[in-house]
Amino acid sequence: MLKPSTYRQVIMFLSYATLALVVIGSILVYLDLVLGLRITNILVTEKEIIEEDLGEEVVKAGNIILLPLPRLKGNMSLEESIAYRRSIREYLDKPLTLNQLSQLLWAAQGLTELKWGFRASPSAGATYPLEIYVVVAENGVEGLEPGIYHYDPYTHTIRLTRKGDFVDELYEACLRQPWVKEAPVNIVIVAEYERTTRVYGERGIRYVHIEVGHVGQNIYLEATALGLGTVAIGAFYDNQVREILGLPPNYHPLYVMPVGVPVKPYRISEQELWKAITENREKLNIKP
Ligand SMILES: Cc1cc2nc3c(=O)[nH]c(=O)nc-3n(C[C@H](O)[C@H](O)[C@H](O)COP(=O)(O)O)c2cc1C
Repeated sequence: MLKPSTYRQVIMFLSYATLALVVIGSILVYLDLVLGLRITNILVTEKEIIEEDLGEEVVKAGNIILLPLPRLKGNMSLEESIAYRRSIREYLDKPLTLNQLSQLLWAAQGLTELKWGFRASPSAGATYPLEIYVVVAENGVEGLEPGIYHYDPYTHTIRLTRKGDFVDELYEACLRQPWVKEAPVNIVIVAEYERTTRVYGERGIRYVHIEVGHVGQNIYLEATALGLGTVAIGAFYDNQVREILGLPPNYHPLYVMPVGVPVKPYRISEQELWKAITENREKLNIKP
């Protein structure tokens, strides 16, 4: 049997403990609901924060999407990406992730130098005549509504310029090439020639056409490195594509590049390449 004084002490202890829990609980609720601080988030380790950064949450500022920040490490060497690059025209019915879209756009035109604002693809006199648009189909990119988006390299954001699924219209504009309709995403590279011809005159036209090749190749190689597939399309009605994208008359679409998860990725081994090259040398009797 407890003495009355001990009994009183136990009751007092329990009362203080309950009061302390209520106070701590109230502070947590205040931090969470009023200040928006998740105590569980504060307690996660640095590793978990890094992993969280790679998450797929879509961060928006009005109609602007803040793309996940570009990553400089991937799963494939440059040489493998060159060897495995193929024009891919059959895609699975699978959306792209926002991380994949972010990497593709960064590889196309993203920022790679900070003093002058130079970009991933070379440009004559750094005049940067090319703009990148993305036609996102319904369920084309995880977390993105269908529509036309315009890429801004300096903030690494895309802005929704037209809402809706325009893939059928783009398919018609591209002479009904089925891969346009089947791809979850079509990247469109557009030129404003004046930015370059203003500096180089007529020769600037040549430079713009060379540049679109650089950008197209970067998209091809980045897609391959990400386990995706694409094809450069040059056959389309300029006016129809311009209309779909809502572009002014001095903006000229040069490439449409459908991107998706390949039904069958292309692969070739070093041994296969070496064998073919050696046989070609033998056929032509080229010996050391
Ligand atoms: C300027 C240009 C325009 C092209 N236009 C189309 C096109 O309209 N439709 C298409 O399916 N492929 C098009 N291609 C892709 C070529 O057919 C492809 O690159 C070629 O068959 C070689 O295959 P590879 O890219 O796998 O090496 C085009 C390629 C280039 C460079």
